[in-house]
This record gives sequence, C-alpha cells and structure tokens, in this order.
Amino acid sequence: GLTTASALARRPPRTGAHLAGQAPLPPPYQVPLPIPRTLKPLATTGGVDRYEITQRETTAEILPGVRTPLWTYDGTFPGPTIEARRGRPVIVRHRNELPVPTVVHLHGGRTPASSDGYPTDLVLPRDWHEPARMNGMHMDGMSGMRDPRAVESRLTRDYTFPMDQRPTMLWYHDHRMDFTAPAIWRGLAGLHIIRDDAEDSLGLPAGPREIPLAITDRAFSADGTLRYPSLDPTLRTKPGVKEEYLAGVLGDVILVNGAPWPVHEVDAARHRLRVLNASNARHYELEAVTDDGRRLDLVQIGADQGLLTTPVTHRTIPIAPAERYDVVIDFKDVKPGTKVRIINRLGSGRTRDVMAFRVTRRTKDDTRIPRTLSNDLPTWRRGEATRVRDFSFRAGRMNGGHGWLIGGKPFDPSRTDVTVRLGDVELWRLVADVHHPVHLHLVGFRVLSRGGRAPRPQDAGLKDTISLRPGETAEIITRFDAYRGRYLFHCHNAEHEDMGMMANLEVH
Ligand code: C2O
Ligand code: CU
Repeated sequence: GLTTASALARRPPRTGAHLAGQAPLPPPYQVPLPIPRTLKPLATTGGVDRYEITQRETTAEILPGVRTPLWTYDGTFPGPTIEARRGRPVIVRHRNELPVPTVVHLHGGRTPASSDGYPTDLVLPRDWHEPARMNGMHMDGMSGMRDPRAVESRLTRDYTFPMDQRPTMLWYHDHRMDFTAPAIWRGLAGLHIIRDDAEDSLGLPAGPREIPLAITDRAFSADGTLRYPSLDPTLRTKPGVKEEYLAGVLGDVILVNGAPWPVHEVDAARHRLRVLNASNARHYELEAVTDDGRRLDLVQIGADQGLLTTPVTHRTIPIAPAERYDVVIDFKDVKPGTKVRIINRLGSGRTRDVMAFRVTRRTKDDTRIPRTLSNDLPTWRRGEATRVRDFSFRAGRMNGGHGWLIGGKPFDPSRTDVTVRLGDVELWRLVADVHHPVHLHLVGFRVLSRGGRAPRPQDAGLKDTISLRPGETAEIITRFDAYRGRYLFHCHNAEHEDMGMMANLEVH
C-alpha cells in the first residue's frame, strides 16, 4: 500500500553491522583528523580561477590494516577543497576516469543552469557504451538518458561558477540521476569555500583555528570494501536490506574528513568549525562535552548560505544531510591535556561518538566574535510573496515498487513541476511524512515557520536545506533572482533522492 514505505522508514535504524563480517574498528580518538588539501588553480589569469579535477578510482586506508576502494575527486576522500573569492569566477574542468557516467553539482552555488549539474547532464567515461554495467536496484538507470534535453560529453566538462553570492562553505558532489547515493557513498564529495574581505576583517578564528568538518557515516566489510546494499548482489535478497535502502543507508562507522572518530589537537582558544553533514541519510545532534562532563557552548555564526546577522548560542546543533553550520567553540577554560568530545546525541553505541579535540596548551587569543557578523542577510515578508505553493514529501508507489514522491509524483526529467518568474518572491509550504532534508538549488531561503510556530533557533540565517521533521509543515520564503533555466529541488536523503524524491523547477 501507499504507506508501507513510510512505515518501513519509521522502523528503528539498521546499520551495516547487522550484515555479516566487518573490518576491525579503531578505538575512538586515535586517528588524527585529516584536513582536506586546498586545490591549487592551474591558472588565475583574466580574473578567473581555473581548476582541474580528475575523478578516479583509488584505495585508501580508512580503517587500520585494510584498504578501501573509493571513487574520488583527485584521489582523496573528501576531495580537495576549492577556495574561492566572492565575485571571482571559478571554472572547474572535471575529467571522468571512473567506470560510470558522473554529474557534478556545487551544492548551494548560485550557478547558471548549464553548470548546475542537472542529473542527466552526464560526463561519460572513456569506454561507456551501454547500461549493462548499471547496478541499479529499482530502475534501469537509463531513463534520464532518454530525456531529449540530456547533455552528454565525453571525459571532460567545464563547470563555471560565478561565485556571485554570500561567502559560505558549499560542497560539491555527484548528482547523476538514480545513482547519486552510491556515488557519494563511494567518495564523490568535496568542500568549496567562498570568502570575501568583509568576512576576513571580522577577526574570527582563522588559519589553523578554522577547521572544516565533513561528517559522514559508512559501513565496511571485513576486507575493507564499503558496504552499500543495493550495489551488492549478495546482500540484495537478504531480509532487511531493502528496508535499509528505502529508509536511507546508514553506516556504523562515523568518519570526519574521511577518518574514523578522529582526534585533533587545539590550543585553548576559540576555533571556527565549519560543519557539513555529508552523510547519505544520517541525522546528527551535536554537542561538545569536556572530560569532566561540562557542555561547551556552540556559538553559531553562519548557516548554509553564510553569516548570520548576530551570533546565536546553542547547547546542541541538529544537522541533517547536506546542512552546514558555521560554529565557534571556545576551548579557553578546558584544561590542557584533556579532551572535548563531539557527541551525536541521536546515535547509540559507537555512532554516539563523532570526534574529539585534545587541548594542548594555554595561549593568548586575539580572535573575536563580533556582535554584528553581517548586514546583508536577505529578509522577505510574507506580503511580498506572489505565490504560495504546497509540496508534500511522502512515500508512494513508483515503477510498481516503493518510492518517495513530491506532490504525489516521482522525479521525471521531462516534466516541469514548477515554473517561477525570475525575480519573484514565493512562499512554499512543505510537509513531510518521515524526516526529509529538503534542498532547493540556486537560491537561499529563510524559514518562516515550523509546525505552525516560530522557527527553531537553529533555523536562523539563510538556508539552502531545511530539516523537515516527521509530520511537520514548514514555511520557507525566497526570491528566485539569480538565473533563468531548469533547476531542482529534492530530498537530500540521498537514497530518497534516487528513489524519486526530486522535482524540476523552471525559472523563466
Ligand atoms: Cu547537494 Cu541537488 O544537491
Ligand atoms: Cu527524504
């Protein structure tokens, strides 16, 4: 029936651990936190920064003693970080040396449609012929290629990002139709940070005191390979695996910047943590706890789309897939030699642990958190909205099986679901059956209400992803003021997205 998928998705989360055989896991807080390297531009002439990224297979030692095959951007997971300046365009040439077609999307970018990574705008690998190599469980995976507007290029594609937007931390990841979730799971994700002079002059913690944290979960087999149920023919028929796929795939190993439960040494000073939940389906609620049981304040300075107007202090931060929180934490009252653990309150057993900071020494700290962080945060009043639209995010039937639908329909690249006029302000009411992190391409939005009440303090600022909770209706408001063309909105539970929960948004 129509509600079965959502009933399945409500069951307690399963993890890869219920499947036989697992590589030995390291104790927490032993592996040093890696910081993804910053990519060097090939050229910086003509006011443009040009980069090249090769998508290729490699292996890495993620768990001690075993090698994990990965799909990577330029050989690492996460991929290299791109550092951009506001208003200075970035062109990234992606070269596909993977065995499958790929699509690159810069999540949170105000990007012309031709470079936004529409799910059928494929970069084909050298030897790609036919769908025989497709591993899809629920579809043949080729439906997108039948889209008359599909664009395919072989081996390379140049993506142009104008960077005409507020400074913030974006991320780039694969977005191929029906296969986004397994591609991200295998490693296709990286960070992309935009800065400007105004932000640089605020005096926030910087350099080694600014730390990107891309949090993911993964499941591993005994030989170190990543477990992903729909791609593993031996697992597909096992009970529980289909439900796991439908709800979204969870892992029992928490990785930060690709390392399991890492530790990072810090001075007893303020640090700026740029947190991304890059997990396919796992939600976290983060808190920082000292060895003697004190909880440290998490001072939020920015959201998905850049700085808040004023800082907001939280005890815990819930973070859904694809959301970012820009947070300052002050270690000044933490005794040198002791740790501050970052805990996931929603986890159990080992998924409760995320990472730790080991405080090494007292130091002087001349950073600050200004009371006014930015004064360009857009606000839109209800009365400005020229349209109010309603969208439901619910389970339903798709291709004769279970799927996830927006407004009762699964994704179809040849159908336009919403047409908006360039420059219009619109108010959207979103309602969910189970937890769905809903993401709009192209624009940032504000959260107006949640469950008929004021938004949570953690909904502050300009967002591009909203964590829509079970049974809840939320109102968001935005102006579609960037570019004309075909864009997307979708659930960012990556398995939900692959199983239909995506829709077309035409700006004209
Ligand atoms: Cu982060 Cu449409 O994606
Ligand atoms: Cu969803």
